[in-house]
Amino acid sequence: MTGKNGDHESPRVSTPSNANANVKRIPPPESPAAVQTRFKVIAAFWAVIIFLGFPIWWKTTSVYRAHIPFQEMVDWADGKTCRPVFPLEIHLATPAMQSPEAQHLLRTTQHTLDDLNEFATHHLRLKLTNDSDTPTTQDDENSQGNASNAEKEAADTALTVRLLPQEDLAAPRSELHADTTQLDVFYPPSQTPVSSSSNPPLSAFIAGELQQLYAEEKATIAHILSSHAVGLDSPSPQVAGSISRRWRRSMQYAEIYHLSFSLFTPGPAPSAWDIEAAVDEYLSPLLRAFAPISNFTVDTQVQLYATFSPTATLPEYDETEAAWTLKKEGLSAFVNAAEWPLNPSIGNGPTINFILYIPDPSQSPLVVKENRASSWIIPQWGGVFLLNPPLSQTDSSGDRVNPAHLPLETLRPAFMTFSHQLLTLLGTPSTPVSLPLRLQTLIRVRAATLLLSASSTMGSLARLTESLPSIPIPATVSASVSATLSRLAATCSHLRAGRFGAALANARVAEKEAERSFFEKSMVGQVYFPDEHKVAVYLPLLGPIGVPLVIGLIKELKRVVASWKAQRRPT
Ligand SMILES: *[C@@H]1O[C@H](CO)[C@@H](O)[C@H](O)[C@H]1NC(C)=O
Ligand SMILES: *[C@@H]1O[C@H](CO)[C@@H](O)[C@H](O)[C@H]1NC(C)=O
Ligand SMILES: *[C@@H]1O[C@H](CO)[C@@H](O)[C@H](O)[C@H]1NC(C)=O
Repeated sequence: MTGKNGDHESPRVSTPSNANANVKRIPPPESPAAVQTRFKVIAAFWAVIIFLGFPIWWKTTSVYRAHIPFQEMVDWADGKTCRPVFPLEIHLATPAMQSPEAQHLLRTTQHTLDDLNEFATHHLRLKLTNDSDTPTTQDDENSQGNASNAEKEAADTALTVRLLPQEDLAAPRSELHADTTQLDVFYPPSQTPVSSSSNPPLSAFIAGELQQLYAEEKATIAHILSSHAVGLDSPSPQVAGSISRRWRRSMQYAEIYHLSFSLFTPGPAPSAWDIEAAVDEYLSPLLRAFAPISNFTVDTQVQLYATFSPTATLPEYDETEAAWTLKKEGLSAFVNAAEWPLNPSIGNGPTINFILYIPDPSQSPLVVKENRASSWIIPQWGGVFLLNPPLSQTDSSGDRVNPAHLPLETLRPAFMTFSHQLLTLLGTPSTPVSLPLRLQTLIRVRAATLLLSASSTMGSLARLTESLPSIPIPATVSASVSATLSRLAATCSHLRAGRFGAALANARVAEKEAERSFFEKSMVGQVYFPDEHKVAVYLPLLGPIGVPLVIGLIKELKRVVASWKAQRRPT
């Protein structure tokens, strides 16, 4: 109804046909060309905003959050998904018994074992076996990898118990081989179990031996699980204390450790040692046996004229001992960390340092005052051995000097000690005597700790991403999380089936992937802006630009609507 017009003559003067608008002065109506231009300008602004500005803003401010299974991760951390169990398969070889007798012995021994065991998570399963003469070796290697094959595979044999009759015996006795996983039980033939006796003495004996063999492992696992999960009984306080003390001395688990052997001496000699041969001869067998758990790299160095640190308590001569002595409380300052070139970490893994110190002939023999020991462990760092050369020779002027070269045989006691220190530093249990059995225990313990730590990392990651909704989750994190969860599931099922080598291999990957996802740089590095902060930043910018734009848009819309109405009315 207003004076708006599409294609009439130019309305230079107000016409009486417009009844409402004639009172006030109205601005001269715009030319159609101007109207069109204004429309185009406003449309162009809005087009830029909608098709360029908004997508760019959206793209640059939105965070990418890949899907990760929060609930599943939290369930792992809370121990709802997997309850680790440790069923150890123990083979019973009975070459001298008839089958029914052997079966009976198996049943009664298993029964006694189950009665003795109050910690159901860790239990021993007996199995009769025929091939009594081949001591079983660890076959962990084969069980890694193809999961579908692994499902069908048998459990690792933890131990073979061989029952051998021996005349002239009053009671059964046992003998554990130090370098195999075999326990020989000798029994008087009169004690061969007969099916009438429900509790043969031989069963009780075997059960007791086995119980004792695995006592430390059981306590360790109970301690580890109880420190993570609620509702599990922890072992008695003094057992727990000694376990955690040993655990504190040992290094963090790593796939690769770097062993650094250093010879330090305050004088010019010895300047050479048969270190390569010594490592080969005394250490390599141990390192090879460790391969399912960890691998090692080795480096060596010789440092002459190595002086004590100025703050160290110097050795004192003890008349009664006829020896130079170091006080026990001064041992921590013995290693002159400031001046001795000990690399904290070369290569991939954590470094374990072994120091062979050859005292000057004038200060020899050098021992620890309190116990006359010549070696000690530095927790989570390495070991020290004082090699007092009984080998001191005299030079032409009659002074005692150290030999220039240390042969293999001289290094033997030092390397025997280093082997023990290495086992301790790697967390190997102290019992039983058989090294393969101790390493198996370590495999189980490490599998359990890695399983628990990867699970709890998953829980932390889930809680972190949930509590910070605007933190990005890159696709790599999502991939690592699903790799971790599938490895954790594999670990759990291998544990349940008693395949501990395979369980450790999977737990190791799970832990690595879990760490990778938790310490993902693009996630951690992102600065976190709360939404209120963004509004505060945007408002001053948007206000001055936004208000004219919005008002222009509204005006234009009004005009379009009005002209549309004007066109429809007359018809
Ligand atoms: C022992 O061997 C015999 C025959 O070789 C076999 O029948 C039996 O099942 C075997 N027993 C076990 C426990 O493997
Ligand atoms: C396991 O091995 C079989 C053949 O040996 C193969 O068909 C299967 O795909 C493998 N599975 C996995 C998970 O690698
Ligand atoms: C150590 O090395 C051996 C041989 O290369 C390998 O089979 C084993 O898996 C390695 N162990 C670890 C813990 O990486």
